[in-house]
This record gives sequence, C-alpha cells and structure tokens, in this order.
Amino acid sequence: MKCKKTVVLGFLGTQLDQAGKGRWGRWRPTISLGQQQDLQIDRYELFFDKAYGSLAKLVRQDFLQVSPETIFNCHEINLGDPWDFQTVYGGLFDFMKSYKFDTDNEEYLVHITTGTHVIQICLFLLTESRHIPGKLIQTYMKKFRDPNGTYTIIDLDLSKYDKIAERFHQEQKEGIHFLKSGIATRNKQFNSLIRDLAIVSVKSDAPILLTGKTGVGKTRMARLIYEWKKQQRMVSGHFVELNCATLRGDACMSALFGHVKGAFTGAINNRKGLLAKADGGLLFLDEICELGLDEQAMLLRALEEKRFFPLGSDTESTSDFQLICGTNRDLAQMVKEGKFREDLLARIQLWTFDIPCLKERKEDIEPNLDYELSLASLRTGNLLSFNKEAKEKFLALAVSKEALWKSNFRDLSGAVIRMSTLSEGGRITEDAVCNEWNRLKKQWRQDGKQDTDNINLVKRVLGDNASELDLFESCQLQKVLEVCQYSRNMAEASRKLFAHTIREKKSINDSDRLRKYLAKFGLSWKGIQN
Ligand SMILES: Nc1ncnc2c1ncn2[C@@H]1O[C@H](COP(=O)(O)OP(=O)(O)OP(=O)(O)O)[C@@H](O)[C@H]1O
Ligand SMILES: [Mg+2]
Repeated sequence: MKCKKTVVLGFLGTQLDQAGKGRWGRWRPTISLGQQQDLQIDRYELFFDKAYGSLAKLVRQDFLQVSPETIFNCHEINLGDPWDFQTVYGGLFDFMKSYKFDTDNEEYLVHITTGTHVIQICLFLLTESRHIPGKLIQTYMKKFRDPNGTYTIIDLDLSKYDKIAERFHQEQKEGIHFLKSGIATRNKQFNSLIRDLAIVSVKSDAPILLTGKTGVGKTRMARLIYEWKKQQRMVSGHFVELNCATLRGDACMSALFGHVKGAFTGAINNRKGLLAKADGGLLFLDEICELGLDEQAMLLRALEEKRFFPLGSDTESTSDFQLICGTNRDLAQMVKEGKFREDLLARIQLWTFDIPCLKERKEDIEPNLDYELSLASLRTGNLLSFNKEAKEKFLALAVSKEALWKSNFRDLSGAVIRMSTLSEGGRITEDAVCNEWNRLKKQWRQDGKQDTDNINLVKRVLGDNASELDLFESCQLQKVLEVCQYSRNMAEASRKLFAHTIREKKSINDSDRLRKYLAKFGLSWKGIQN
C-alpha cells in the first residue's frame, strides 16, 4: 500500500509559540510537532496574522532545525477580529475551500492547540463537517517543563470508536423502546419501521409522513416522536396538533397561519395561529389530505422559507417547526386527481412510514393486550387480569378469521376497557370474553354495512367524486338511490320519497323535484337506471 504524506494545518500560537531567549527549554506546540519521534511531517501549513509575520518566520526556522525534511509553508491570513466567530469561520471556510486537498496522496492533521478559542472551534467545525478532510491533532506537555511535549490524534469519524459506537447503539435501543412504549412487539414489519423511525427522529428534522388505516396509532406515534425528541433535547417548543378534517376555508387558514383583527367577518382579535405556536417544536397535521389547495400552498412556503403571512396581514411571521403529517388516504392518487399539490407531497414524503394494521400484526396482539391491561389497571387503580382460559380464548378469537379489527387499536383498547369494567374484582372471565366478542362482531357488522351501503350506490354512480360529499349528503343520496332502485319510474320513486308532502298537497310536481335533486349531482333518472 502506498504510504500517504502527512500534512499539518495549524495556526501560529502567538503566546505559546513565542520565540526569544531560552525558547529551546520551553514547550512550544508548533515546534513540538517537529520533535515527535513517531510522527513524520512531510509538510506544514502555518497560518498567521500579518501582525505576527516575524514570529512566523522564526517558528519556521526553528521547526526546520528540528525537522529539516519538512516542507514548511507560511500563509498570511486576515481573519479580522480573531475572537469573532462569524468572520473567523467565514475566512477559514473560504481558505479551506480554495485549498487543494489531495486525499489520495496526503493525510491531513489539523493542529488545534494554538490559535484563539474561536479559531479552534472553527477548525473543529470545519473538520467535523469534512470541509477539511482530516483528523484533529492536539499537543500538550505530559509532565512539567517537558519541552518536547506529546500529541494525540482525534478522528472525528465516531464510528471508528467501539465504545462510542456502543453508546449510539444503546441510545438507538432506548429510542426503539420508547417509541414502542415498552411493548415487546414481534411483528417484523412494525419493528423495522420503529427501528428506522428511532434513527430518523434523532438524526433529522425533515417532515415525516405517517400513513395507515384509522386507529393504527398515527397520532399516538407523532406524540411519541415529539416526546422522544424532547428528551433528546432536539426540540424545545410545543407539540401542536390539528386535524385538518375539522376546519375549512378561512377558519382553517386562520387556525394554521393566524389572522389580524378584521381579516374576515368574525375576526375580532388578532390570532397567532398554530404554525407560530409550534415554533421550535413540532406541528402534527392529521388528515393532511383534507387541507384545501390554498392552505397547501401556504404550508409549502412556510416549510421551505419558514415564513408566512397571517390572514389579512402584510407583515410576515416566522416559525421554525418540524412537521409530521398523518393520512389514511393515498396522497399520490390525490395528486393525480388534482386534489393535492405534487410539490407539497414531494416535500413531506421524504420519510414515509406506513403503520401496519392490527390484523397484519397478529403476533403483536398479545403484548398489546397486556399493555392495554396494565394501562387500564393504572387508570382504575385496580389490578386487572384475565383468567388463564379467558386469555387463551380472547387471543384465539383475536387472530381468527372473524377478527376484523376495523378500528385497530381503538377496538382493542375499547374491548379491554369494557371487559375489565364489567368484570368483578378486575378478573376477566371466559364469559366476559364471549360477551365482548359478540359486541365487537356486531360493531364490525354495522361498520361493514355502512361501508358497503355507501360504496354500493353512491360510489357506484358518482365514482371518485363520492369522496367529495359530506356524510350527511352521501347518506341522503344513498337513501334516494335505494328508493329509485326499487321503483319502476320516476313518478313512483317521487311518490315514495315525498309521501308526506303529497299528502299535505304542498308541492305540485314531485317528479320535477326528484329530477332537480339528482341533477345537483350530475345524475339523471335514465343514468341511474343504467
Ligand atoms: N400500541 C398501540 N399502538 C397504537 N395505538 C394504540 C396502542 N395502544 C393503544 N392505542 C390507542 O389506539 C387509539 C388510536 O390511536 P391513534 O389515534 O393514534 O390512531 P390514528 O392512526 O391516528 O387514527 P385516525 O386515522 O383515526 O386518526 C388511541 O386511543 C391510542 O392511544
Ligand atoms: Mg389520528
């Protein structure tokens, strides 16, 4: 293997490197580097301020005396005030950028014992960020009045240190444990998701997108990520949460970005808004798919530039927050339909985590059941538990084909709460399990009926547009379509639908009323019969 040349980059020590009488009996950091038996320096690049030109010259002479084979270059560098962080960092950054580092043939050591503390900090930062592709070297006296001194090399590539790597590993393990709330989950997909999330949540402050069906724990996970980041001192602000489905139009704009007094009817005071409230913290936007296109555009700008205009204000507000979004819809599909901005999706989906359903995590039902039970025990102050047979029965049913777990953890925690409340002395029996199972099945049947009803007719006639209807409208339309489906003609359907009005003789042409109602959704009698 070709041996690389060793190059040292360092500042002149205006105090410690002082020349003058008796200098050979004193420890001088720069000179001491040339005196190390086991360190062959091929080139030295010494930086000095123009006020210290003659000292730099003397140091060079002395260095060459102890290490004549070294090529010693002096660079006058003007850093302005050597105690001002900004100017020093800027000056060094520019210098290092133009310096021709040849890492194939040379190895660089950055001497950090000399120079002001600010210079040392900047050299450290530039080395850590690999603007200087080298290692740090520090010199010191091992014993009092030892003119040669000694040195240590510090490689900032921390993965090379076993003990430090072990600490990172331990920290990552703690993150995993925290994000799992201590539940010993066994599902491979979920465990690997948590492993990645534990890394991402401490290494990155880029947006995170949590996807998954209702009740899989998106909101809960967002909160856990925040708590973990807070413990790691990665955030100092608040956890701020908004379910985007709950607000529309001005109300949504104002909730997110704030408003000034008089911005719209009802805006009687200034309002700060959630983005501002999340400054330094974490904003969780649940059901992000429900945000309108205007809000999406404003949010994108706020994410990119950390600035936004409160409603009705011409003064910008600033806020630096991490964003976590939750959704159970396919955002890529919504982009295709023009309902979600492509650029916003690109911004928020860098870290996407799809949380699996409980049904896909059968092996995790038992540890989660124990967890729910311990939570319920804590809440009620009574020790709650299953009979052995009861637990076996519940677990067998929970993983059976009948188990739909439609609302995922909401169903599981609801079941535990009901069983433990209804059980005497907090002991859950087989009977309690059977009763609860019937309750769950009934609930899933009802949910299922609602789902299929709504999909069957409204979705069949309106296609994707069905999702734009409020539940209220969709229920009404569903019923109307059901009546039409079982009527021979429009007059018959109208008679059924407007029976009361006809009896009261309040309306003249009920078929026309039905026609107009259907037309509101772009439907006709003939169309729906087909
Ligand atoms: N181990 C668990 N993992 C996830 N959620 C759990 C767990 N145990 C209990 N839960 C509870 O399940 C419920 C549903 O969780 P959450 O509200 O986070 O789901 P979600 O995915 O955000 O649902 P939605 O899409 O309806 O907003 C919460 O009350 C949560 O505390
Ligand atoms: Mg949620």
